[in-house]
Amino acid sequence: MAPLLMPAASSSSSCSPKRRRSLVLLGLVLLVAVDVSAAGSMYDEIELIWGASRTFFFMDGGSEALALSLDQSQGSCFRSREKYLFVRIDVEIKLIEGDSAGTVCTLYMISEGPWEIHDEIDLEFLGNVTGEPYTLHTNIFANGVGGREQQFRLWFDPTADYHTYSIVWNPKHIMILVDGKAIRDFKNNEDEGVAFPTWQWMRTFGTLWNAEDWATQGGRIKTDWSQAPFVSYYRNYTVTWCRPSSSSPGAAWCGDEPKGSTHFDLDTKTLADLQWVRANHMIYDYCTDAARFNATTLPKECTLP
Ligand SMILES: *[C@@H]1O[C@H](CO)[C@@H](O)[C@H](O)[C@H]1NC(C)=O
Ligand SMILES: *[C@@H]1O[C@H](CO)[C@@H](O)[C@H](O)[C@H]1NC(C)=O
Ligand SMILES: *[C@@H]1O[C@H](CO)[C@@H](O)[C@H](O)[C@H]1NC(C)=O
Repeated sequence: MAPLLMPAASSSSSCSPKRRRSLVLLGLVLLVAVDVSAAGSMYDEIELIWGASRTFFFMDGGSEALALSLDQSQGSCFRSREKYLFVRIDVEIKLIEGDSAGTVCTLYMISEGPWEIHDEIDLEFLGNVTGEPYTLHTNIFANGVGGREQQFRLWFDPTADYHTYSIVWNPKHIMILVDGKAIRDFKNNEDEGVAFPTWQWMRTFGTLWNAEDWATQGGRIKTDWSQAPFVSYYRNYTVTWCRPSSSSPGAAWCGDEPKGSTHFDLDTKTLADLQWVRANHMIYDYCTDAARFNATTLPKECTLP
């Protein structure tokens, strides 16, 4: 398939706190009117930063959920109230039912510093016409360099129910998990000269926006606005810090014990899951894109074990 090189950088920036500061204020004002105060709720962890009037909190299956919506004039976006340095984020997401062509629902983490050196971890769910599968597009930026796209087909219908999507970011690995299965692992290869996010604090963002110019079947299929508003749901946003520190000395390493000198060893289940996903559900990997790179230009991490 043709590589999909457009997305994260350009789309994420349109929800970057810097560029959206005026809308942050608007979102906060609107939030005051919303009565959600349950302890440990989504509302405690996240804030709406644009399109707030298109979103709503509600109780779903006993836990508080946030609905993001998109119509022809605007999408919507939330971000975490806190910034993190080494963290595991778990969140349950239920994607747009029916015709979602042209839409992109995201979960990503991004640093706030200068764009040229920014770090970013992306999950982008590319919509499709009714009956055709969603694509989970992922990318990782370190020190301003991205271009690390991997795409997956999910092994279930992500619109039928909530599923748990997780980002694990510890000093040695960035991992993306779906329902507890690792689908992607990006190792800290700083020793080999590959940048890895280790010092810039990142915030989590979730967005629903229109990307009909590239998202679905390479942009050939446009959004059918007669189906709007499009709605996706987020629930049970859970934060686990991934390193011991003076402020939280008991914090875990997110299931990843420092053993060897270079890398934390992944356990056998994680390795098996990665292998299974790669064999059965990966549809694009930048490391094997011969048309895009050749032996001399293949990114360094693709040549390391
Ligand atoms: C949409 O469905 C088509 C046909 O099954 C598939 O080729 C494509 O990868 C799917 N996803 C997107 C985002 O276009
Ligand atoms: C919320 O998510 C966490 C982490 O994935 C999980 O352990 C917990 O059981 C979930 N809570 C509910 C009510 O589903
Ligand atoms: C591939 O390598 C050759 C030299 O070996 C170079 O001339 C060419 O520009 C490279 N192609 C790309 C896409 O980097």
